[in-house]
Amino acid sequence: MYRQFFGFSEDPFNITPDPKFLFLSEEHNAALTLLRYGLEQSKGFMVITGEVGCGKTLLCRSLLQSLDEKLFETAWLYSSNITQEQLIRSILKEIGMPASKLPETDHFEVLNEYLLSKINKGKEILLIIDEAQNLSYELLESIRLLSNLETNQRKLLQILLVGQPELKAKLNQPQLRQLKQRILIYYELHPLDKKSTLNYINHRLNLVCQQPGLPKISYTAFKAIYKYSKGIPRVINNVCNKALMATYARLGKKVDKKDVLHAVEDIERLSL
Ligand SMILES: Nc1ncnc2c1ncn2[C@@H]1O[C@H](COP(=O)(O)OP(=O)(O)O)[C@@H](O)[C@H]1O
Ligand SMILES: [Mg+2]
Repeated sequence: MYRQFFGFSEDPFNITPDPKFLFLSEEHNAALTLLRYGLEQSKGFMVITGEVGCGKTLLCRSLLQSLDEKLFETAWLYSSNITQEQLIRSILKEIGMPASKLPETDHFEVLNEYLLSKINKGKEILLIIDEAQNLSYELLESIRLLSNLETNQRKLLQILLVGQPELKAKLNQPQLRQLKQRILIYYELHPLDKKSTLNYINHRLNLVCQQPGLPKISYTAFKAIYKYSKGIPRVINNVCNKALMATYARLGKKVDKKDVLHAVEDIERLSL
C-alpha cells in the first residue's frame, strides 16, 4: 500500500520467512554455522529451539538454500498429530518416492531401502521437522529409531528438530534420554538485543529502498518498536509494517513515535 509512496521495491516487513531478507545477527550466524558443521559431521541429531517468531523457520530455509542441491535431498515436515506410518510415508514422499510406490506396511524396511538407494547415488538426506514441540513422546521415539538406520560406515538420515521452548523441556524428560544423548548440535535462538534490532530494521529497509535514506525512523520511534517487540523479529515486522502505514496515512517521511504507538494500538486491538 505504502510501497510506492516510500519507493520500496517490495514490502520490507513481510512476515513470510524469505531467505533473501535474512539478517545474520550474531545468534543467527552462530546457529547457521553450527548447523553446517553438524551436517558435515553427519551424525546425531540437531536441535534448534526458540520463541515463536525468532527466526527458526527462516534459518532452516536459509540453510536449505545454501546446500548443494545435487548432493542433498531434504524432507521438510511440519509436525502435527501424525502416526509413525504417516511420518515415514511423508518422509518417503518428500524425498521423491512416487505416490504409487508408497508402502502400506513394513515401513521401516521400505524407508531403509529407499534411503540406501539414495545414498548409493551419492545423496545426503536431511529430515527437518518444524514445530517439533508438538511431537508426541511415541513419535519422538520413532524418530530416534529412524536415526539408527545406518550402513557400516554412516547414518542414512540426518535429522534436524526445530521447535518452541517446550521442545527443550520435552527433550529433558527422562523417557527421552536416549534421544537426548544423540543430540550433536543444540542451539537456542533468543530475541534480538537493542542494537541488533536497529540493524535488523535497517537491513530490511535497505534491501527494498530505491531512494537511499528514505524513510527515516526517529530514535524515539525505534525505542518504542524495541520496547513493544522485545526484539522478536516477527513482532518487529508487524509493528514496523503498521507504523509505516501510519506514517504514510499522514503523508509523512519519517516514522515517529506516534506512528509506532498507533501501530501497537492497532495490533493490540486485533489480538483481543
Ligand atoms: N534473522 C532474520 N533476518 C530476517 N528476517 C527474520 C530473521 N529472523 C526472523 N525474521 C523474520 O521474522 C518472521 C518470523 O520468522 P520465523 O522464521 O517464521 O520464526 P519462527 O519459525 O521462529 O517462529 C519472518 O518474517 C522472518 O522473515
Ligand atoms: Mg516457524
